[in-house]
Amino acid sequence: MPGDKSISHRAVILNSLAKGKAAIDNYAPGKDCLATITCLRALGVTVHATRVQDSPSALISGTGETGLQEARNVLNARNSATTLRLLCGLLTSQPFLSVITGDASLRKRPMDRVIAPLQLMGADISGRGGDCLAPVVIKGGKLRGVDLTLPVPSAQIKSAVILAGLFASTNTMIRQPVATRDHTERLLTSMGAQLEARGNTISLAPLCSPLTPVSLRIPGDISSAAYFLVAGAIHRDARIVIRDCGINPTRTGIIDTLLDMGARLEFHNERMEAGEPLADIVVESSELRGVEISGDMIPRLIDEIPVLAVAGCVATGKTIIRNAEELTVKESNRIATVARELSRMGARIEPLPDGMIIYGGTALSGTEVDSHLDHRLAMSLAVASLVARGETIIKDAHVAQISYPAFWQDMGITAGFSDS
Ligand code: S3P
Repeated sequence: MPGDKSISHRAVILNSLAKGKAAIDNYAPGKDCLATITCLRALGVTVHATRVQDSPSALISGTGETGLQEARNVLNARNSATTLRLLCGLLTSQPFLSVITGDASLRKRPMDRVIAPLQLMGADISGRGGDCLAPVVIKGGKLRGVDLTLPVPSAQIKSAVILAGLFASTNTMIRQPVATRDHTERLLTSMGAQLEARGNTISLAPLCSPLTPVSLRIPGDISSAAYFLVAGAIHRDARIVIRDCGINPTRTGIIDTLLDMGARLEFHNERMEAGEPLADIVVESSELRGVEISGDMIPRLIDEIPVLAVAGCVATGKTIIRNAEELTVKESNRIATVARELSRMGARIEPLPDGMIIYGGTALSGTEVDSHLDHRLAMSLAVASLVARGETIIKDAHVAQISYPAFWQDMGITAGFSDS
């Protein structure tokens, strides 16, 4: 699998703040993580992109916590919300002006969720549309710690506040209503930051000594593995081995849910690397049944819901997804787009304001469908096409490059890309 996207963003951002060099192997090859590198270079960080044993690697010369410089131009996070939101947290503390924008899709996504908490810390940060949207303008300066209950369960908001809190004058406390991915906390702890996570509460002290650079090999991305986990489970003659896949418990909702649905999954070689658990996973053809997915499970599989919906279409019985209103503010409105595009292939899906009901067991047929320029929808539709009768044409399928450039090749799908 390509390196984990969430961990790659954090590894390059945090090592930029450390004093010294770090090598990050199996760095996520997608466009999102390249956008983070481009922004950091514009801020004066030296990042060499190389290849080690055929996988991408990033060599970072950290500037130390006071070494970032004002960028000469607007920073562009492109399609990557993680880049934009995490950099907002970091740049509010830096003594210079920053303007960050993104592509048309990212400029529609909510930024008030990071702007408002950072303003509570004393940050001079504003955004278009009454501090709600990018471009975001930041006049970096002094910050104070905050005691914050996250308004939505989001690791991006949490990480932005943690990055700001490292440079604040007092301690920061973050309370999460539900656990969200904890890669920032794990990495910062291994770099020597004073951070403590107890249950869903994180307390953080401002940096009092430089962060230690940490070289690491990024685990395979479980969000990318999800396409193979579902493909293997729903295909009638499959056995797929996925090696070195991250299995951080804040990310394994897809595995728990597929097991609940009756999937045949096995784990081998479980181990820890650089503070993150990983394993080899084997998936085989399975008979799936519908399940209900809601509550605390949602942040543990939020990015995998489009492909889980495909599993739900093939399963017997109903799959009900609730409490997932966050899907409406992802790369596309994933409640609407998943329901619309899978329905075109013959699925029976009823969209709800916070999820969907999928009536499983209907045969899927190939037809023309649209990715809505959403990488996860493009790849989910490809998985659906594997079990659909006839040919499927996915509009704007190239968008898989955002997180998984080798997807078509790895899936063995002969993709003919046209310009239309
Ligand atoms: C991410 C957190 C999640 C996830 C996104 C990556 C991260 O978003 O959907 O793809 O790396 O922190 P939210 O924090 O908005 O839930």
